[in-house]
Parts: sequence; C-alpha cells; structure tokens
Amino acid sequence: EDAARIEGLLQAMTLEDKVGQLAMIRADFDAAGSTLLAPKVADITAGRAGSVLDLRGASAILAAQKAAVEESRLKIPLLFTLDVLHGYRTIFPVPLGEAAAFDPDLWERTARAAAIEAAADGIALTYAPMLDVARDPRWGRIVESAGEDPVVTARFAEAKVKGFQTDDLARGDALAATAKHFAGYAAVNAGREYASADFSQRTVEEVYLPPFAASVNAGVAAIMPAFIELAGVPLTAHRALLTGVLRERLGFDGLLISDFFAVAELIKHGVAADTAEAAALALNAGVDIDMASGTYTDGLPEALARGLVRIETIDAAVRRVLALKLALGLFDKPYARGENALAPATVEAHRALAREAARKSIVLLQNNGVLPLSAQTGRLAVIGPLADAPGEMLGPWRAAGEASEAVSFLDGVKAAFPHTVIVYANGAHIPAALEAARSADAVLLCLGETANMSGEANSRARPVVPEAQRALAEAVFELGKPVIVTLTSGRPLVAPWLFEKADAVLAAWFLGSEAGNALGDILSGAVSPSGKLPLSWPFDVGQIPIYYGERPTGRPADPENHDTSKYIDAPNEPKFPFGHGIAYTTFDYGEPRASVETLRAGESVAVEVDIANVGGMAAEEIVYLFIRDPLASVTRPLLELKAFTKIKTLSGERVTARFDLTTDDFSFPDADAIRRIEPGEIEILTGPSADAALLTRCRVRVVTVD
Ligand code: IFM
Repeated sequence: EDAARIEGLLQAMTLEDKVGQLAMIRADFDAAGSTLLAPKVADITAGRAGSVLDLRGASAILAAQKAAVEESRLKIPLLFTLDVLHGYRTIFPVPLGEAAAFDPDLWERTARAAAIEAAADGIALTYAPMLDVARDPRWGRIVESAGEDPVVTARFAEAKVKGFQTDDLARGDALAATAKHFAGYAAVNAGREYASADFSQRTVEEVYLPPFAASVNAGVAAIMPAFIELAGVPLTAHRALLTGVLRERLGFDGLLISDFFAVAELIKHGVAADTAEAAALALNAGVDIDMASGTYTDGLPEALARGLVRIETIDAAVRRVLALKLALGLFDKPYARGENALAPATVEAHRALAREAARKSIVLLQNNGVLPLSAQTGRLAVIGPLADAPGEMLGPWRAAGEASEAVSFLDGVKAAFPHTVIVYANGAHIPAALEAARSADAVLLCLGETANMSGEANSRARPVVPEAQRALAEAVFELGKPVIVTLTSGRPLVAPWLFEKADAVLAAWFLGSEAGNALGDILSGAVSPSGKLPLSWPFDVGQIPIYYGERPTGRPADPENHDTSKYIDAPNEPKFPFGHGIAYTTFDYGEPRASVETLRAGESVAVEVDIANVGGMAAEEIVYLFIRDPLASVTRPLLELKAFTKIKTLSGERVTARFDLTTDDFSFPDADAIRRIEPGEIEILTGPSADAALLTRCRVRVVTVD
C-alpha cells in the first residue's frame, strides 16, 4: 500500500518536485531564534523543499508544516530535523560521558526521553547517534562519540536507535535516528577538524564499520556521510562505501543525508568542477538529501540534462524520502508531533533520569581516601571557573537546553552538604580563591574546559587543562589542604602535574542539566561512583592517538632493551587505561570459566566470572570480557573487547557475571578482507579494565571452521 502511494506520488511529480524532496533547507535566524523568512516559505509552498534543518518550536514548525500540507500542490509533508544528541530540553551527559556508564539500558532510556521532548516540539528526525570510533582527543568531536572501542560504540548504536525510534516510527513521540558520520571522521590527520583521513580497509572493517553495521541491524532510518575525504575520495562522493558497503552489503535501505553543505564542498575538495558535477557525484554515490547547500536544487536538473545522472537515480532517492515520511506517519498525521505539550510529570521524570545518567557517567579517576567527603565537613571551599557555571554543564549540542534549568556544581554541593559551610570563589582572582581555600577543611576545585572548547571545529593541538587554571591549581595545592578536582571536559585532558598532587580527581565530562546534583550524590557517598573510561586517558600529548587495542610488534617494549617499541621521553602506557574507574569499595575478580573447552564454528560458549565486593559499600561494577587470538593468519590486537556488563553488589557480596559468545566473536577479516574464523586457541580475559595486569584468563579452542 505504501509502495503504491509512493508510486502514485512519483507519477504526479515534476522534476522540480522531485528535486525539491531531495533538498533540505535550513531555518533562518533572527534575534528571537529560528524562523523561516518569506523566500523559504515560498520554497515550501512551491514544493522546492522536502525537509528543514534547525527550525525550533512547536508553533514555527506547525506553521511551516501547514504551508507544505495545505498550500503546496502535492501536499507532501515536511521532515523537521535537528541535532538532538544528548537531550532536548532536559540535557543528559554528552555521549562520551554517557558512554562511561557502559549501560545500554540507560543509553536507550535517555534517547527515549530526548525523543519525547523533541517530538513534542515537532521534530521528526535527529542527527544522532554519532558513531565515530574516536581515539584522538585533539579532535573536538570526540565529545560526541562513545569513545575508542567499536564494540562499545556498536552497543551504543543499538541502544540509541531503539531509544529514538522505538519499534514504530509512526508514533507521535518517535524520532528517526541518523547514524553519523560514515566513516572514519575521527581519524582526521593530527586530530584537526575537517582534515583528510587515510586508513586501511582493515581499519574500516575492524574499527569504523561495526557500529554502523549495528545501527543498520537495529533499523536506523538514516545515515550521514562524513564531511571529510578518505584516501582521496570525499565520503559524500564515496560510491564504494555508501552504495557498495552500506546499501549493497549491509542492506541499508534508509536515507543517506549529506552533512551541512558537504555536497557543495565537493567543489572545494577538487573533485567536482561545478554545481552540476557536485550534485551528480553525491547522488550517484548514494546521497539522497543535500543538506542546505542548494546544490541538488541548482545542479541536478542540469546534471540530468548533461547526462551526468539518470532520472531513475533521482526517483530512487525520492522514493526513499517519501518512504521515511510515510513510516514516520507524516502523511496521515502531519501535525501529530508538536500537538501535545509535555506533561510536567514527564519533565520531572526526565530530570530524575538526567541525575541518574550523570551520576553513572562520573568516573572517579583517583582517590586517596578523601572521598566520600564526610557529611561533617565543617567548611568546604568550592573554587574554579567550572564551579558555578550551569550553562557549561550542558556541553555542545544542547538543543533546547537552558542554562537557567541546569544545576551547577556549587548548587549541587550545597544541597548535598546541608551542614557544611560552602565558600565559593571562581578562581579568576587567585588571592581570593586562596583565601577561600585557606579557611576551609577541604577544597573542591572545578577545572576543565568550557563547552565551546569541545565539539565541532574545536580541535585542540594540546588537549590539556588550560594554563590559567594550572596556576590556580598549583597555588591551591601549595596550601596542603585536601583537594578534590572535577575535570569538566569533552575529552581526556593531559595533566600529569595535576594527577600527582590532587587527592581525588573525577572526570565529570559535561554532565547535563543535573550535573551538580549528580556530583553531590557522588561526593557525599550517597552512591558509589561506577563510571569507567570509554577511552584511554593519555599521560602525554605525544602519545596520541592512544588506545588499548594495539597490535603486537616484533619488538615489544622492554625496559632492558633500547631497541624496542617505546619512547625515550614518555611511558608507553596511558595515565589511565580504557575501563579505568574506581569505586568506594574494592572488587576481587576470580578466574573466568568457559562452559566448553572446544567449539566448532557457529557454536557458542558461556563465560562466567565471580566478582566479590570486598569493601565496605554497595556498588555497581562494570566488568569487561576481552579476547586475544595469539596466532592467526594476520596479526590480531593484543586485546579486543567483546562484551561488557554491569553488576550490582552489596558489601561482602559475590556476584557472577555471565557473557555469551559465539565463534563469530572470534572471526576477523583475513588478508583479503574476508571475515573468517580460524582454528586455534583463543584467550579469554575478564577484568575491571584493559590494564593487562588486572585481567584474569582462560582459554577455549576453535576446532573446525566453515
Ligand atoms: O548533524 C550535524 C553534523 O554532525 C555536523 N554538521 C552539521 C549537521 C547538522 O547540524
């Protein structure tokens, strides 16, 4: 029935109508926010626009939808789109922070809440989840990622797609999700935004593709190619990857939406001579919608006339656009999203969820026992530029999040320590900050990045704690008081001097609307910290890119042997490994047990490991399962994460974590990039992080293969 409806519409469409469906216009902006000025409204009524980027607010969206549905010839509804990454009005931790919770159920619930809020304003598609496996903290967009690991990012992909979309896109509170940026954007040279990338097919297969494949399996509605070029081919024009891999190999039949102006930028990349060529390159590669650049509008008719594109290719793209609009219920109920204002109880529940998410995202990096902070603390100095900065807590891509609705660290700490005198200094004036610190029993030093230091176009050559903050921190350390540091940031910040002197350090990312309350929960010990690092935290800028899944070298680092793989001026190891994060209790890991010793291709194995909470407090613990294939036809990483889980433990309790693996988990692309399972031994390693010294292990043997 849908197909007949689409064909009927196609029959009725002129070339201009068709190209209109492939054109996304961007909202205009005035002092009051986003709007659509007369020329864009005219585009809508004339059928020259099929979708809209960045228009906000239920009434503006309703007016634009009415223009399309009631005044355009074919009455095709518009698709309203926005970057809803980590919340809409209620802001959850940035993705890198939320990844630290290693909690797919939480990831799904926050996406659901974000979708409910955004859909209530009329939005129908979000540009999330971002699935770029990211290993270079110089790159500002690492904040939008789920970190360095493909398996974590794949689980993140599934949870987010499910949370945004539900099982039924036609629901009035569902958003179409867009997996982005396909693929390898995080590998830009030296972490510099929009630079080029060049990596192997093996890296595509092993690192960058799996999260996108997971999103396709989860039914993601749209995918966005990255802005950048890969080995000489801009992704926006990369037919082999967009059509060959995504559509033909993975079976993706959703929409491919270009990044902002990326189609026009094919000219600057130097692969298209003019607008018609740029439009043809992108469309022929598989890109259905041109975001905001007008290149399809201006270039496709001429490209058709010149024989650069076929009408069948245009029709196929239009079909996909109409299919998504149908799936979203836009034809039957064009105003359904935006019709119902959010109930106060819903907003309240989302705030509680934001607090839970923020609490679970905080990573306690080090602690000499100063935390949890006693409720009896007489006087606490709260110092630093991020201490009373509610707006900064929201991080980049804050959608409709308001600073006035965010809880600062200062306010959260005041609420969590009602019997403590809190003295505050923003730290801009060091002597005033020192005075506050001197009078206190302990200091909470709130350092890090402001929101505009991370995110798109905010690459940093030196991802460090800003110099002015270092001067403040060094002066505070001199006083000899217990100092607890929060690092607000969209990336790991290199700061060996800080880790040497601070009594406790918490990675606080950008925690969102409930940042302060969540910090209060952790500092007071109401809850034990449970977050762990979704990426390696470098010791030195020169180690970047650094990640746990390195491959073996013929000359492994040996302190006794100069001619081995190491630096002469820095350690090889990161300051904190992937998975690091401490609690207010201690865990003892047993040896993993495999349910079988040998298995054939297609068979599965259950792995169990006992974890005992041997400390004095109930806590959650994230448990990892890695594998190592010590002998194969191609080199295999020293560690590969295959699964993770989170267990709840009471003090003194022993809990068994269970993982189910199949031989697919032991497969890898061979020298010809064909995924295979090879016979032989596989080491299975379980533990609290990627620190090899903390892992316990067992082995299984794959005996026959396909
Ligand atoms: O979705 C984003 C993308 O990640 C970066 N460029 C702009 C797009 C739309 O806002």
